[in-house]
Amino acid sequence: MDLPKIAAKVPVKVDIVEGKKYAYCTCGLSDNQPFCNGAHKGTEFRPSVCTPEQSKTVHFCQCKQTKNATGFCDGSHKSL
Ligand code: FES
Repeated sequence: MDLPKIAAKVPVKVDIVEGKKYAYCTCGLSDNQPFCNGAHKGTEFRPSVCTPEQSKTVHFCQCKQTKNATGFCDGSHKSL
């Protein structure tokens, strides 16, 4: 499996909205981080889609090493 590109070594804070669909970029190639812009085409990567059940502020991973399926930061960037 190819390794994702590290888009940044810090997470990004986002206010997510209840019921809105978000497509988290897992490949690191999007220039609209942390979200997918279709740049994964031709790779084995696919975006991770989530629809929050409540509005809240979260931190999305940009190093692409998170083990969190929704793309939320799990602190993995600290070991890079
Ligand atoms: S651009 Fe990275 S998953 Fe779509």
